[in-house]
Amino acid sequence: MTDASQQASTPPTAARVDHLERSKIRVMFDLAAEHDGDPVRLHVGEPDFDTPEHVLDAADRAARDGETHYTVNQGIAPLREAVADELARESDVTVSPEQVTVKSGAMEALALGTLAVADPGDEVVIPTPAWPNYYNHAAMAGATPVEVPLSADEGFDLDADRVADAIGDDTAAVILTTPSNPTGRVYDEDAISEVVDAAAAHDAYVFADEVYGRLTYDESFRGMASYVDHPERVLTVGSCSKTYAMTGWRLGWLAGPQQIVDAVTQLGESTTACSSSVSQHAALAALTGPQEPVAEMKAAFEERRDYVVERVADIDGVSCPRPEGAFYAFLDVSEFEGGSFDVAKRLLEEYGVVTAPGDGFGDAGEGYLRISFANSLDRIETGLDRIEEMARAER
Ligand SMILES: Cc1ncc(COP(=O)(O)O)c(C=O)c1O
Repeated sequence: MTDASQQASTPPTAARVDHLERSKIRVMFDLAAEHDGDPVRLHVGEPDFDTPEHVLDAADRAARDGETHYTVNQGIAPLREAVADELARESDVTVSPEQVTVKSGAMEALALGTLAVADPGDEVVIPTPAWPNYYNHAAMAGATPVEVPLSADEGFDLDADRVADAIGDDTAAVILTTPSNPTGRVYDEDAISEVVDAAAAHDAYVFADEVYGRLTYDESFRGMASYVDHPERVLTVGSCSKTYAMTGWRLGWLAGPQQIVDAVTQLGESTTACSSSVSQHAALAALTGPQEPVAEMKAAFEERRDYVVERVADIDGVSCPRPEGAFYAFLDVSEFEGGSFDVAKRLLEEYGVVTAPGDGFGDAGEGYLRISFANSLDRIETGLDRIEEMARAER
């Protein structure tokens, strides 16, 4: 038991911890856990499908065959080869297996990648709304996150001029997420090229967070490193999490310039050394095995995306940019009373729907709620019914 006097004498943590921000999505998880009853959970950013059967079999086999030891830090060679093949096949991005480092999720790849390129005092430019963990990765590196709010009026498309204006001599990296979490926007290729040019002109890197790259609904997808003039500045980050319904396996990668790949591997030697050996074998099966499960999940997400877009269009006082990829819709609820967090809390407490408040994705997200359509159509329908009810009651 700790009493107040013991708490008062608790030694302080390092200053960097004070710079970390608690994800509002996680805060909503906690509030939802305290909620009586069974709220409709539309806040979770992961597929509602199970990992494909052949992947489970491969993991089972690997574990039973003794693949339960440390692997080389960079990841087993066949997996790095499979990642390079997938990047070529699905994203048009050409890298050698040597230019791939396998990490415990895109999360670790991004965290270590930021440590590899940003010195204390550097800046990391983040167009927002954006996935909140980028801020903390910058803070962990002692760097300053620089938010560039994108315009809601332009559907949160990438505004290359504004992002380029934010890039300067202190910029270590720019983070581009396409398709975007939370808006579902797929950024325009010309705008991306301009941003990469600006970054290259200042010796900065661009993280191409393409974890949702295989989930685009209207157009086919190309990785940034395939078409920009400075691919040597692009650090491509990918993952099995969203594509193969493998969030819990914690398996992702960073691919690109050798020097950075090697630095990330080196940094990882002192965190996890290597990612889970069983997960690496599971990922190998996912990447090289039948791709039908991916197509099936994507078709389901697309059907739900269409449903969400149609439904939201019919709710007075709520709108959303059409999600072009990923599995999120970013609902404009600015006509409701209070900020996003208040709206999200009321929606949970009074209507039993859990969402992610938009201000958790940066200032540009204020007035919005993110819902995930990685949920059954029934649940999405119930959730939207209740959001409609709230809109009727509050306007
Ligand atoms: C944009 C984005 N990047 C990276 C990640 C992390 O993915 P992983 O599960 O591979 O760590 C997520 C997870 O939600 C995400 O939304």
